[in-house]
Amino acid sequence: MIVVTGATGNVGRPLTRALAEAGQQVTAVSRHAAAVPDGVRHVAADLAEPAGLEPALAGAKALFLLLSGDLHAAGASPADIIGQAEASGVRRVVLLSTQGVATRPFGATRIAMRVLEDVLRGSGLEWAILRPGGFASNALWWAESIRAQRVVAAPFGDVGVPIIDPADIAEVAAACLLEDRHTGGVYELTGPEVITPRQQAQAIADALGEPLRFHDLTRDEAKAAMAHSMPAELAEDTLTILGSPSPAELRVSPDVQQILGRAPRPFADWAARNTAAFR
Ligand SMILES: NC(=O)c1ccc[n+]([C@@H]2O[C@H](COP(=O)([O-])OP(=O)(O)OC[C@H]3O[C@@H](n4cnc5c(N)ncnc54)[C@H](OP(=O)(O)O)[C@@H]3O)[C@@H](O)[C@H]2O)c1
Repeated sequence: MIVVTGATGNVGRPLTRALAEAGQQVTAVSRHAAAVPDGVRHVAADLAEPAGLEPALAGAKALFLLLSGDLHAAGASPADIIGQAEASGVRRVVLLSTQGVATRPFGATRIAMRVLEDVLRGSGLEWAILRPGGFASNALWWAESIRAQRVVAAPFGDVGVPIIDPADIAEVAAACLLEDRHTGGVYELTGPEVITPRQQAQAIADALGEPLRFHDLTRDEAKAAMAHSMPAELAEDTLTILGSPSPAELRVSPDVQQILGRAPRPFADWAARNTAAFR
C-alpha cells in the first residue's frame, strides 16, 4: 500500500489517480473528506500532528510526503513524520521539496525544508527528493478575476520562469514510488520553457477562446494580495524569484525528460485542461 499526503491537491490528486490506475493499493490523506478514485481509501489526518498519521501508515510500503504551509506552523515538527513512517514499516519515502532549497538556501521556509531533506537522507529509508520550481497551477490565483472581469492581475508580467505542470510532478512522483532506480535521486523539476505571466495569460485566453486583459501589479500590490494565502516572508521570497529569477531558476532542467522519457508538458496543456476554473 502507498500513502499519498496532500492527496486532494494539484499534485496529490493526479498522483493518487495514477497509482490507483497502476493497480496499487492507495491511501489518500488530507484533513478534509474528499472524493477519491474508486478503490482508494481516504484517511483524514493533519500533518501538523504526526502521531495522527498512524492509522494511514499502518501496512504502508511507501509514502509520498507533501507538506503544506503547516510545515511552518507553531509546534509542527514535520521531521517526526519521517520517524513515524519508519516505525510503521514504510520502506520508501518520496519527498516533495522545492527548487529553492538549492537556489535560495537562506530563507526560513527553505531552511526548514532542507532540514527535512537531511532527516530523510539520514534515516534508514529508501528516499527520493523532488525539487520543483514554480507550478503552472499558481495561475489559479487569477481564476476569480478572470471569471469576474476577464482580467489577469500580476506583477513582473514580462519576467518568466520555466513553470512546471503539477501533473508532471505527479508522474515523476509515481515513478519514484514504484521504480527502484530512483532511490537516492534528487530531481529538479521544471517545465519545457521559460514563460512569462503575460504569455500564460495569453495561453489561458487561447484555451478559453476569449481575450483577457493583463493588468500589471506593483510588487507591493502583489504582496498585499498574496498575504491572504501565505506567510509574509514566503510572499516576499516568491516575489523576489518572480521578479529577479537567478540563472539557476531560469534553467530548463532535463530531469522530467530523463525520468519519464518525454518532454515536460507546456503551460498551454495545463491551461487547456483547466478552463473550467476560469469560465
Ligand atoms: N506552488 C508552487 O509554485 C510550488 C513550488 C515548489 C514547491 N511547492 C510545494 O508544493 C506543495 C503544494 O502542492 P500542491 O499545489 O499540490 O498543494 P495544494 O493543491 O495546495 O493541496 C494541498 C493538499 O494538502 C492537504 N493539506 C493541507 N494542509 C494539510 C495538513 N495540515 N495536513 C494534512 N493535509 C494537508 C490539502 O487537503 P486539506 O486542505 O483537506 O488538508 C490538499 O490535499 C507545498 O509543499 C509547496 O511548498 C509549490
